[in-house]
Amino acid sequence: MPYEVQGVVSRAKGEPVSLETVLVPDPGPGEAVVSIKACGVCHTDLHYKLGGINDEFPFLLGHEAAGYVDKVGEGVTDIAPGDYVILNWRAVCGTCRACKRGKPWYCFSTHNATQPMTLTDGTKLSPALGIGAFLEKTLVHSGQCTKVNPDIEPAVAGLLGCGVMAGLGAAINTGAVTRGDSVAVIGCGGVGDAAIAGATLAGATTIIAVDQDDRKLEWAKGFGATHTLNTKGKSEDEVVEAIQTLTNSFGADVVIDAVGRPETWRSAFYARDLAGTVVLVGVPTPDMRLNDMPLIDFFSRGGQLKSSWYGDCLPSRDFPVLVDLYLQGKLPLDKFVTERISVDGVEGAFDRMHHGDVLRSVVVF
Ligand SMILES: NC(=O)c1ccc[n+]([C@@H]2O[C@H](COP(=O)([O-])OP(=O)(O)OC[C@H]3O[C@@H](n4cnc5c(N)ncnc54)[C@H](O)[C@@H]3O)[C@@H](O)[C@H]2O)c1
Ligand SMILES: [Zn+2]
Ligand SMILES: [Zn+2]
Repeated sequence: MPYEVQGVVSRAKGEPVSLETVLVPDPGPGEAVVSIKACGVCHTDLHYKLGGINDEFPFLLGHEAAGYVDKVGEGVTDIAPGDYVILNWRAVCGTCRACKRGKPWYCFSTHNATQPMTLTDGTKLSPALGIGAFLEKTLVHSGQCTKVNPDIEPAVAGLLGCGVMAGLGAAINTGAVTRGDSVAVIGCGGVGDAAIAGATLAGATTIIAVDQDDRKLEWAKGFGATHTLNTKGKSEDEVVEAIQTLTNSFGADVVIDAVGRPETWRSAFYARDLAGTVVLVGVPTPDMRLNDMPLIDFFSRGGQLKSSWYGDCLPSRDFPVLVDLYLQGKLPLDKFVTERISVDGVEGAFDRMHHGDVLRSVVVF
């Protein structure tokens, strides 16, 4: 029997989200229904609501989730009802060119559920990042369920499903931060602080947290930042100079832009050492432009300019390891959870995110 559950829906660009009755069908071949126990509020949910991702309203929001497999469809053998899972938005296909070349984190044919979840009048919902998890039951592709050790509580585990994995992976996988590196992270929200935690795990010895908000900089120290830089009122050049000053005038080996705006990216570009790496993990909106950068600067400074989708992660490889590191006390994932809220509190959580009051609000069921 299909489920009828209350889910957080964004009906129109910029309008407040609403709780709506959502019909969740029984899983078809290759699909699974998951009982969601917790789902974090990510900035990407806000991007969806504001029309910054695409115009396919109405959206079913929520995508940083953990829970228990409830039912599986025909042909599903790798998970079973009762399994504890983190949902992922990279269920790799195994057969596309990227997968066959041994780089499945670039898979361009990832699986999502094929049946839609709908409103009671039959309107199809667009699930955020192919998940949609601000509701008690959701329908996903079975490959979107990654089994992990159930000793980690859902509110903490779910965050690995998006923002925290994106930040950790931006440092470890994309930026290839290693022992002795200097790293600057611009924007210390959930994603940026995870990049700081990733740089710490990888052995970076100088880690500069950059934000416009002193509270965020204070929290960043808890993830391993060795220096902080408040850029409020500073010009791009002043930001670059301050990072150079903290790195013996060289600039950082790796600069991670976890904001995703032209000015933060330009600062990242110029604040790295010659032949250093820039990693863009914050998501720009389609209207943003980089103007007036001399092409010779790209040539003469060398190095690598990369972007990081989901931290170049492979959920089946990375989630279980990160959960183990947390359980061993080596990765403070619980510090990302600022507050636990109920499913009718997402609009308020967006406000607190906008005002910088939280790292992550997590809806618990
Ligand atoms: N690439 C991916 O796979 C991926 C995954 C999840 C989220 N994201 C994106 O990462 C970004 C950050 O997400 P979040 O959840 O951490 O958001 P957040 O709102 O919690 O944090 C953003 C932080 O950036 C700071 N900031 C804003 N403008 C700044 C500026 N000009 N200079 C310095 N600091 C500034 C804010 O004070 C805040 O601390 C978003 O764009 C989000 O969509 C990307
Ligand atoms: Zn593939
Ligand atoms: Zn997210």
